[in-house]
Amino acid sequence: MTTSTPNPFADLPINPSILRVPKSATLAINEKSKALQRAGKRIYRLGLGQSPFPVPELMVSRLQAYARAKDYMAVQGYLPLREAIAGMLRRTEGLDSQARRILVGPGSKELLFGLQMALDCELLLPAPSWVSYEPQARLLSRPCRWIETRPENGWKLTAGDLEQQARERDGKKRQLLILNSPNNPSGACYSETELQDLAEVARRHGILVLSDEIYSELHYRGEHRSMARYYPEGTLVSNGISKWAGAGGWRLGFLAFPEGLEALLKSMIVIASETFTSVSAPIQMASICAFEDSPAMLDYIHACRRVMAGIGQDFSRQLREAGLQVAEPEGGFYCLPDFTPMADRLQNYGIESVADLATRLLEETGVAGLPGSDFGLHDHLALRFAFVDFDGAELLQAAQEKPDLVIDLQLPQLQRLQQAADRICDWLHRL
Ligand SMILES: Cc1ncc(COP(=O)(O)O)c(C=O)c1O
Repeated sequence: MTTSTPNPFADLPINPSILRVPKSATLAINEKSKALQRAGKRIYRLGLGQSPFPVPELMVSRLQAYARAKDYMAVQGYLPLREAIAGMLRRTEGLDSQARRILVGPGSKELLFGLQMALDCELLLPAPSWVSYEPQARLLSRPCRWIETRPENGWKLTAGDLEQQARERDGKKRQLLILNSPNNPSGACYSETELQDLAEVARRHGILVLSDEIYSELHYRGEHRSMARYYPEGTLVSNGISKWAGAGGWRLGFLAFPEGLEALLKSMIVIASETFTSVSAPIQMASICAFEDSPAMLDYIHACRRVMAGIGQDFSRQLREAGLQVAEPEGGFYCLPDFTPMADRLQNYGIESVADLATRLLEETGVAGLPGSDFGLHDHLALRFAFVDFDGAELLQAAQEKPDLVIDLQLPQLQRLQQAADRICDWLHRL
């Protein structure tokens, strides 16, 4: 459009709920990374949390075989897929899962949005929590309450914290708590006892829990525990193939509903039928094998766990030795080092906020991390690093071929991550 012709849509009314969602600091970091890369600077991409591993061959060959499947599928999801999902939840968690209480969608993110739309609840989030839960609440004009956690506690919500907010709250709205384990951004995993204690409080106060278990199979010791074991009547489980099957771009996730929440499931099927209709047929058919108990799938998952465990341990150790407060991650792709112990030195260096910290670190070392403020953590100088900047196909193959291969950042395949760790540590020493 030329400047001389006025834009007839300049005053197009935009939904105010959308305008209320602020631009995240993550976007600014991504834009800055791209600009620096264009200017020829080496960037270590520790911002983006995507699986570095290829989709298992088994799933790829099924997708090729089903490429001609072209019909719309049942809105709730392809029955054999829902049966496989329910079977996995029964096998791995001992849950009373049934295909009729599973809803399949185009990624768990879309289903979480649908859930918040279907419910008229106040959202409860431990700070820090994954970046999209709160903006989804804002888009829907739902209230959201953050509950503080502590780094010495691995940034995990405690039963005491949950109890205290329940006592202090004045509103009458039902509450929906989102718990995420293994956790993005901290890499922490809730133990059986912690979940039991939280379940007791949730049950006492009638709090509905959405247990986001998208990294479940990436618990490094294979000891993931679903909240639904301890609070079966009040927990919805959310999961999918994006992380532990390396298939984020396939867009397939699910929600498992407990007995007694059929009305909620029904309303979510209405939302699904009026929005995405169903997940693509070939993707649903090819994903069945991801949930089945096959040696090929188990071998893939075990090798991914081993690789991520070795990297997480070595990477976090190096940052800890450089003076940051960081727990060793127990699952997933992330850790959340806290730079607060160095706040004075950082301030003398002109760094006043966590957004400054992310920007200066990127400009001066080329390492991109995400500010904790995007995860609801405002009073700590914490950055989330995703230690996934390596060739996952190559390393996975090496790990599968050599069961005794020691995974640490000395491996040639992990050279970039070692350089990123070195640059962060050198930068800290120079402060
Ligand atoms: C904690 C968490 N939950 C949910 C999702 C969304 O996953 P999906 O690909 O199933 O939409 C992500 C993706 O980054 C995530 O990190």
